[in-house]
Amino acid sequence: MNNIWQNLKESKQPFCVLAPMDDVTDTVFRQIVAKHAPADLMMTEFANADGYCSPGKEAIKTRLRLSPSEGPVIAQIWGINPDNYYIMARDLVDMGFAGIDINMGCPVKDMIKKGACSAMIQNHALAAEAIAATIKGVKGQIPVSVKTRIGFNTIDTENWIGFLLQQKLDAITVHSRTKKEMSKVPAHWDEVAKAVTLRDKIAPKTVIIGNGDVLTRQEAMARTKQTGVDGIMMGRGIFYNLFIFDENQKEHSLAEMLGILMEHIMLYQKTWGDSKTFEPLKKFFKLYINGFDGSASIRALLMDTKSAQEALEIIGIILKTG
Ligand SMILES: Cc1cc2nc3c(=O)[nH]c(=O)nc-3n(C[C@H](O)[C@H](O)[C@H](O)COP(=O)(O)O)c2cc1C
Repeated sequence: MNNIWQNLKESKQPFCVLAPMDDVTDTVFRQIVAKHAPADLMMTEFANADGYCSPGKEAIKTRLRLSPSEGPVIAQIWGINPDNYYIMARDLVDMGFAGIDINMGCPVKDMIKKGACSAMIQNHALAAEAIAATIKGVKGQIPVSVKTRIGFNTIDTENWIGFLLQQKLDAITVHSRTKKEMSKVPAHWDEVAKAVTLRDKIAPKTVIIGNGDVLTRQEAMARTKQTGVDGIMMGRGIFYNLFIFDENQKEHSLAEMLGILMEHIMLYQKTWGDSKTFEPLKKFFKLYINGFDGSASIRALLMDTKSAQEALEIIGIILKTG
């Protein structure tokens, strides 16, 4: 097996992963990150295995678009039917993903009602079945991991992460909050340290990645020293700094950032055509235009646009007139 988690663990301490983010980490954004400040590994938005094995398959497949220029990407999946995990896992190997990650952390009510994602923290039997089906589906060709939280209503690291460590997983990402805490309290990094100790005892080969509130590479380094994790996953931090994964932080001019925003908009148009609307792109504007003189008024102009073409024209004028 080409085990990306082990390869990263052996080559870099810590290695840094871009977190899966629904409606954010599609192939377009991943291509932008890969070109300008690549993470060591990235993840797709979560994709539903039950939807994939239904007539709604094509819609799910948009979440699984992959370009060779992205570098290694893990497909993240969720669902409740183990048979569907098996079928989807088999297909994901052929699509070229570097691995499969199972979402056992999403705290959204709709998923929990179905018994999926973080609900699995309270249903070990189903969690074990979903993991086993996925491992069976990949036939030893790519690694299988889980991204989860440290408990459902209360912190339960020893019991839950201890259980996961017995499931022959290649990696576990520990988002160090409970489901109940959502993102409302600071991440409990002391629990990540506990997960590492458990790993050393129960499954020394499983790679542990810590996640929660890391905004810079310096913080990633400090959390690694604190806990002994192998890797760090960063999510929302990329909205403050597109170059969060760059080892050599440097200043970037407004013109440079507008240039990358144009690239993002054009790639979005080319990739999705009419199949996705323009509106969701607006959430990225602040990422590119922030901290410069006049940032707020430029953003206001762009937020008022109704199409990619209109946004590109305005950026073109700003770049020309300086
Ligand atoms: C907009 C958004 C979408 C997210 N979507 C997913 C997802 O699809 N799968 C997942 O496992 N976690 C998802 N998360 C959680 C993140 O992967 C990450 O665990 C969380 O944001 C904490 O890390 P951070 O403090 O570095 O952002 C999402 C978070 C955000 C903000």
